[in-house]
Amino acid sequence: MNCLTVFCVLVLVLSLLSLHRLLQSLSSVRSRKLPLPPGSMGWPYIGETFQLYSQNPNFFFASKVKKYGSILKTHILGCPCVMISSPEAAKLVLVTRDSLFKPTFPASKERMLGKQAIFFHQGEYHSKLRKLVLRAFKPESIKNIVSDIESIAIGSLKSWEGQLINTFQEMKTYAFNVALLSILGKDDVLYREDLKRFYYILEKGYNSMPINLPGTLFNKSMKARKELAQILAKILLTRRQTEQNHHDLLGSFMGDKEGLTNEQIADNIIGVIFAARDTTASVLTWIVKYLVENPSVHQAVVEEQEAIVREKSDEDKVLTWADTKKMPITSRVIQETLRVASILSFTFREAVEDVEFEGYLIPKGWKVLPVFRNIHHSPDNFPEPDKFDPSRFKVAPKPNTFLPFGNGTHSCPGNELAKLEILVLLHHLTTKYRWSVVGPHSGIQYGPFALPQNGLPIHLSLK
Ligand code: HEM
Repeated sequence: MNCLTVFCVLVLVLSLLSLHRLLQSLSSVRSRKLPLPPGSMGWPYIGETFQLYSQNPNFFFASKVKKYGSILKTHILGCPCVMISSPEAAKLVLVTRDSLFKPTFPASKERMLGKQAIFFHQGEYHSKLRKLVLRAFKPESIKNIVSDIESIAIGSLKSWEGQLINTFQEMKTYAFNVALLSILGKDDVLYREDLKRFYYILEKGYNSMPINLPGTLFNKSMKARKELAQILAKILLTRRQTEQNHHDLLGSFMGDKEGLTNEQIADNIIGVIFAARDTTASVLTWIVKYLVENPSVHQAVVEEQEAIVREKSDEDKVLTWADTKKMPITSRVIQETLRVASILSFTFREAVEDVEFEGYLIPKGWKVLPVFRNIHHSPDNFPEPDKFDPSRFKVAPKPNTFLPFGNGTHSCPGNELAKLEILVLLHHLTTKYRWSVVGPHSGIQYGPFALPQNGLPIHLSLK
């Protein structure tokens, strides 16, 4: 290589380097100059939190999108936020570029559930936990507990017979008992009442001010949390001594080769109860309401479920996994309820760096909210979105338009169990009982998920 060639190569390399630097600086200037999405930040501190929880959520979200478009800024629950409402954007935040958006929760919730619970993590620890959780809740695992879930459903319904009940409260107890069964198997029998008592104290502090002084709700919750961890430690000790294999969630956690600590196990068990109970209970409550309001849909469900009863022989009366696969109409009622009620209006992520998004800047530290409710209620994705019409699910929804269980690495690992326990309860509810709603029920309340007014009081009687 002669001197001239070396000189030319050097000039080329230097020019490329300076071009690269120029482009870099241009792009960072560009990102600094990008506008924030349109929208309103509401009042200082409280932002638009009051409007969010006082208006009909369908109206709150839809009116914002109408005014500002599918990406907008707002300020709720003490944080500046960007709400996104297109299926493509939700996929980007939850799946394709999820490393830019980490899961985020209020600090008080993290302390209540436990810092090591699955929701708060990303990376290796999260994928290890997720594998263990999925192992316990995959269809092959939960197939074996259908008849146990059925016993819980029959027992719950019997205790409501002839009574005026608060649907949501009773469904919470049902979902709690199913969650315990899936987590601790039959071991929970000895400890069920204590676990329930302490969990109910714990949950009272979920939305309290995190002030840890004697007498405060938060303080009582933290004490209840300790009691729960101690009960779980006792169950763990007994299992370690007996060395039996268990196919429930605790068994899956204990089977991990590197071993989870007692604390990690307790945080994740408390976390799973939290994720499993009120979600499933509020979906069940909405179904009970929609069946009252849609008699022809109710009748179709009854006929489908009665056909399953007729098919069974006298000796083989218990429900099986295979039976639950013969419930397409009831399954579509569940899907349509998940869409219309959208009990989780949105989820939270946080931008880990400044992100350019559809020509706007999402500043580092801002919350990003994929709004499932808007996606589920957009006429582009679901014609006549406010109509309760389970038959629309005869055709599969377009990709990323139906996200009741989220999407991506944090999507719901309990979705099969949730659907199963809902089907089992509906089987017995619709074949043996009639019910009527007592009092007004058109309003929505939060508890913390969207719920029919007053938890839907109903009177239930045998047919
Ligand atoms: C109909 C009832 C349910 C609904 C609508 C629901 C919905 C969801 C959604 C939307 C997410 C994702 C949240 C996000 O990405 O930020 C999620 C996560 C989760 N759900 Fe569910 N869920 C239900 C029932 C259950 C049940 C029965 C269990 C357990 C038995 C469960 C366990 C979990 C867990 C552990 C996570 C966190 C996953 C992770 O961070 O990797 N859920 N759920």
